[in-house]
Amino acid sequence: MQQGTEKRPPLDPRLDPGRMPRHIAVIMDGNGRWAERRGLSRAEGHEAGARGVRAAIETCRGLGVRALTLYAFSTENWRRSKLEVDALFRLMSKYIRKELDAIHRNNIRVRFLGEMDRLPARAQADLRHCLETTAGNTAMDCCVALNYGGRTEIARAARALCADALAGRVRPEDVDEDAVAARLYAPDLAEVDLLIRTSGEMRVSNFLLWQISYAEIVVTPTLWPDFDQQALCDAVFEYQSRSRRFGGRP
Ligand code: IPE
Ligand code: IPE
Ligand code: MG
Repeated sequence: MQQGTEKRPPLDPRLDPGRMPRHIAVIMDGNGRWAERRGLSRAEGHEAGARGVRAAIETCRGLGVRALTLYAFSTENWRRSKLEVDALFRLMSKYIRKELDAIHRNNIRVRFLGEMDRLPARAQADLRHCLETTAGNTAMDCCVALNYGGRTEIARAARALCADALAGRVRPEDVDEDAVAARLYAPDLAEVDLLIRTSGEMRVSNFLLWQISYAEIVVTPTLWPDFDQQALCDAVFEYQSRSRRFGGRP
C-alpha cells in the first residue's frame, strides 16, 4: 500500500475527482461460488476474498473516498456450518495481524459496525487492538460490518431511545430521524452514496438499511475474489453516470 496520493496519476482518467462518492459500501459476495468453480473449499474461497480486501481499501483511499464499509459477516451468517464460521473468524484475525501496519501507515481509521459480544474472544481482542491503534487516523474510515444486521442496528437505536425517554432525557415528540440516526453504530458516518454488491444477487441482505435510503446501487456479476481495482473504478464510473435526484427535480 503506498502512502499519499498527491503525486500519483489518477487511478482511472474517466472518473471526475469532484464527484467521488463520499461513502462506498460493499456486500462482498461470491466467495463460495468462486471456490466451487475451482473445486476448492469454501474456506479457500474466503481466503481469496480476504486477499481482495486490500485492493478495495487502497483503491478507495487513492480515489479520495472518505468512508468504505465492508460487509464481512451478517447476523444471518451464523446459520452456516461451524466449520465455515470458525474459518471466517480465524481468517479475520489473520488478516488484521497481517494488514494492520499498512492500514495504520496509510492513516486509515478502522471502525466496527455490529454486535461485538458474540464474536470469538480472539477475534474481539484482535479487533479491539485494531480499532484502538487506528482511532486517531484521519484519511479514510474503513468500517467493518461484522455480526452486523440492519434491523438489529435500528432496533438497538430504538432501545436506546426508550432508555433515554424513561430517564427523562428525550420526549416522544423529540423522536425524529436525527434522533434515530444519532443512535446508530457510527452516527457521524456520511450516508452511503454507492452500494456495490458483487456476484449478481439483487438483494440487500439486511445491510445498512437506514443508511442506504438514497444510495445508488451497482450490482456486478463479478465474484468478490475477482473484484479488483478496475472493477471498483467501473462501479464508481457507473455511479457518476447516474442522475441523483433525492425525490426532487433539477
Ligand atoms: C460472501 O461470500 C462472504 C460471506 C458471506 C462471509 P459467500 O460465502 O456468501 O459466497 P457465495 O454466495 O456462497 O458464493
Ligand atoms: C451477505 O451475503 C453477507 C455478506 C456478504 C457478509 P450472503 O451471501 O450471506 O447473503 P444471502 O444469503 O445471499 O442473502
Ligand atoms: Mg453469498
